[in-house]
Amino acid sequence: MFGARCLLRALRSCSSAPCPRHRPAARVSVRGALGVQNANGERVTVQGWIRSVRSQKEVLFLHVNDGSSLESLQVVADSSFDSRELAFGSSVEVQGQLVKSPSKKQNVELKAEKIEVVGNCDAKAFPFKYKERHPLEYLRQYPHLRCRTNILGSILRVRSEATAAIHSFFKDSGFVHIHTPVITSNDCEGAGELFQVEPSSKIKVPEENFFNIPVFLTVSGQLHLEVMSGAFTQVFTFGPTFRAENSQSRRHLAEFYMVEAEISFLESLQDLMQVMESLFKTTAMTVLSNCPKDVELCHKFIAPGQKIRTYAKKQLSNWGADLHTEHEKYLVKHCGDIPVFVINYPRALKPFYMRDNEDGPQHTVAAVDLLVPGVGELFGGSLREERCHFLEQRLARLGLTEAYQWYLDLRRFGSVPHGGFGMGFERYLQCILGIDNIKDVIPFPRFTHSCLL
Ligand code: 4AD
Ligand code: MG
Repeated sequence: MFGARCLLRALRSCSSAPCPRHRPAARVSVRGALGVQNANGERVTVQGWIRSVRSQKEVLFLHVNDGSSLESLQVVADSSFDSRELAFGSSVEVQGQLVKSPSKKQNVELKAEKIEVVGNCDAKAFPFKYKERHPLEYLRQYPHLRCRTNILGSILRVRSEATAAIHSFFKDSGFVHIHTPVITSNDCEGAGELFQVEPSSKIKVPEENFFNIPVFLTVSGQLHLEVMSGAFTQVFTFGPTFRAENSQSRRHLAEFYMVEAEISFLESLQDLMQVMESLFKTTAMTVLSNCPKDVELCHKFIAPGQKIRTYAKKQLSNWGADLHTEHEKYLVKHCGDIPVFVINYPRALKPFYMRDNEDGPQHTVAAVDLLVPGVGELFGGSLREERCHFLEQRLARLGLTEAYQWYLDLRRFGSVPHGGFGMGFERYLQCILGIDNIKDVIPFPRFTHSCLL
């Protein structure tokens, strides 16, 4: 093990790569090459996949993409380089000089001196065709190849950018990141939508559960975050979440990513809604400004700076009945196709941990959902029941007292008013990119009857 000083010294001094005597042409990404201002014959090497080939009498034009940007780099080569191997989909390494492009379409192009085909591609057998715009449903059949298309490339770059923006938002706001477990023995939402986890073979501990008790893939990291919120006033987690919902809908997955936050000493839904709104707006703005071209390709997006207005207490269906997708759609439309907060749901519809509003016959809890155009529910959150006796009564009624003694302890030892929320990350991407089906915003979608790869 390293001491701190020793670690620093080791990091500064060690290097596994010997210094090359003859410097090869600098390896640059396509994005890096396209960003060069006033190109003046710099010698570079670019690696990537051919997106188009155009052969003229004396010159050959290739477009090479390496996933670093939506745009490809134009490679201009002497026709003597032309070969059948330089086909759509082949992987190549190109060495040459970066020069100013005479065409208005790009600033820079690469004048090839050497082109090496790293891996051939049989363009005829390749399921995607040059210049064809394949529907997203078609691409879904090829989860192992679809990331090579422009549209999936853009979506996945935005996904990566949004992930970083979410982490930055929480870091800048003073939240501590907690790795909540994937395997757990609790059903946080109490809806029974659990995948049970067991060893696959007979390495089982004889006649016992591996963990002595039944365990499941997590449906939410909330309860673990609540543990942490007893020591850190602001915490968040961002990880995979699992629900055994039998749904083929365009907004449900069996495995999705959830962003969850928990805030101590928080007493009102308004304060919670402010964090939700701020998370949504700040990260969406970052994504819009960091990858405008990728977002543009996905066509629709939320107008930046649009104020999220708050509408509460809309009564749409019979009191006590849950809101269905069509109610959510109606609400959002009614409010002018903007995100809408819905607050204070009937207690009977919601999980045990939500704070009782003690409001007589309506009997609501301090819950909040954020509904957004085209997607419906994007966030679900609430104030948590921090009063020990209320919680005891609720757990007793549900027959959960024994299992949740540890949770009651959080109320026994230094309880504070607190609240939190969860945001479905794929639904967030659907919302900011205007993508209709949730299966297109996650690299490898898992849903009922489907777990490809
Ligand atoms: O509303 P949910 O069930 O809330 C919770 O799990 C809370 N424990 C979160 C918390 O307070 N820490 O889920 C939160 C969000 C939903 O609003 C939705 O966006 C998303 O998770 N979500 C799903 N996304 C994709 N596929 C599914 N099957 C989803 N189920 C929920
Ligand atoms: Mg919900």
